[in-house]
Amino acid sequence: MTRGSGKLIFALDGVKDRKEVEQWVKRLYPVIYRFKVGKELFTREGPEIIKTIQGQGGEIFLDLKFHDIPETVARAVEVASRLGVEILNVHALGGKEMMKAARKAARTVWEEKDGKETKIVAVTVLTSLNQEDLREMGLEIGVEGLVLNLARLAREAGLDGVVASPWEARKIREGQGEDFIIITPGIRSGPGKNDDQKRVSTPEGAIAAGASMIVVGRDIRNAPDPVGQARVMEEKIAQSGRNG
Ligand code: C5P
Repeated sequence: MTRGSGKLIFALDGVKDRKEVEQWVKRLYPVIYRFKVGKELFTREGPEIIKTIQGQGGEIFLDLKFHDIPETVARAVEVASRLGVEILNVHALGGKEMMKAARKAARTVWEEKDGKETKIVAVTVLTSLNQEDLREMGLEIGVEGLVLNLARLAREAGLDGVVASPWEARKIREGQGEDFIIITPGIRSGPGKNDDQKRVSTPEGAIAAGASMIVVGRDIRNAPDPVGQARVMEEKIAQSGRNG
């Protein structure tokens, strides 16, 4: 099978055990070789699940969204970096000092060992939050304004990029340039099966808007032919006109 572009990250959500994880990786690799391990799977299976996926050739996006005081986040990032995860995330709302501490921790680990430095991306504003939710929290700035602010802060803190909705990808790309990683969830291949219409996008739409990588879960998991679906997505991405 041909190796994919790496722009697709498969979300290993709702898998019941390690065996099922192995089956998914075996099935999708190497069309998809990046896998997102989230809170549910990590809490159930622990760090061993990362080794399992890596043992099958997969790269890991560890989606634990760290958000704490800088010292605590730095320690967690250090441990995750030692596990060799390719990408991990923190909440940008943890502040610049926290993000800087995360960067420093990953760099220290990298300097000690061979291989690549763990990339750190910041979650800007959760896609489950809207303008009203922000106002309730006393944040009068709009969603987009806050996302763009946090993206700038993440860059200033030395992070590699952000996680954001496809709808904000274009402006983040414009503001932060080509080498900034933008990872977007909320991907749906076609109309009619959207659970969150307003903030979703097609794979090619997200990439065309500036996303570097897209996270896809249900659209592949629930497809009658998941590998076929992944291939179709790859083709559409290739036709989207963005190679970055
Ligand atoms: O919706 P789907 O199954 O593709 O979701 C894949 C991942 O993206 C999930 O882990 C989910 O937490 C995240 N997601 C998100 N925002 C959305 C939809 C999904 O962050 N609007």
